[in-house]
Amino acid sequence: MHQHDTRPILKHPLNVRIFHYILLLSFLPLAATGLLLFFKPLSQAGMQLTYDIHIIAGVIMSIDAVAFTIFAFDRVVLFIARVFNLSMRDVKWFMVLGGYPQKFLLGKKVPVPPMNKYNSGQKLFGACVLIGGTLLIISGLVLWLVPHVVPRDMTYALGMIHLVAGLILTMFLPVHLFLAVYRWDDFKAMMVHGNVPYHDAAEYTPLWVEQEIAPTTTSGDQVVAK
Ligand code: HEM
Repeated sequence: MHQHDTRPILKHPLNVRIFHYILLLSFLPLAATGLLLFFKPLSQAGMQLTYDIHIIAGVIMSIDAVAFTIFAFDRVVLFIARVFNLSMRDVKWFMVLGGYPQKFLLGKKVPVPPMNKYNSGQKLFGACVLIGGTLLIISGLVLWLVPHVVPRDMTYALGMIHLVAGLILTMFLPVHLFLAVYRWDDFKAMMVHGNVPYHDAAEYTPLWVEQEIAPTTTSGDQVVAK
């Protein structure tokens, strides 16, 4: 029924897109320099440059996160509410991994439970970004700015937290990037204009459409959503 409905739904507003752009432009160099700092393959001068880039990118990511939390507080609250809204559907989604392995490896379509604005995998990634990102920023700032003020054991613990949180987020990245490009309508929404066509939202995020979009839909051109 929705197959040919191309009305745009605003999925990612401008402030979210700007936040996400600065996040990716700061996190990609952070992940790369973080791995270099861990494995130390470069000369002393190379390692110093790597460290400087890591600090600059870390400061940019921290400012991005704090600014977004202050100026788009409602979006942060909404994102937290969506990410931690769990049900049996999420268990069922993970049991078939969203149907992606079956589709990619066997060319088979399996039934997938209906999803809200974010699917269960995206929710897991979102939770890791929220919790891991906060831990990364706090531990990174303490280790950079006041390493001698905190007790030695605490410095070690913060270092481990920084390392583990950084590695988890870095490991998620290839999956996030692959699926971001695979879901082309979503890619254009996040990276360009913010909108997904109605039929795409109805196919991949039916609960979002049912609960939040359809009740507000009028005959107008643009369907605005949270
Ligand atoms: C070149 C790099 C990146 C690209 C192309 C990209 C692309 C995208 C796209 C297309 C979406 C929307 C998905 C949807 O609406 O369903 C998205 C969402 C999101 N991105 Fe990224 N992203 C990149 C890097 C990052 C990085 C580095 C982080 C954080 C460390 C991040 C965190 C998120 C989060 C939390 C969401 C919302 C939840 C989700 O959809 O998974 N992204 N990204």
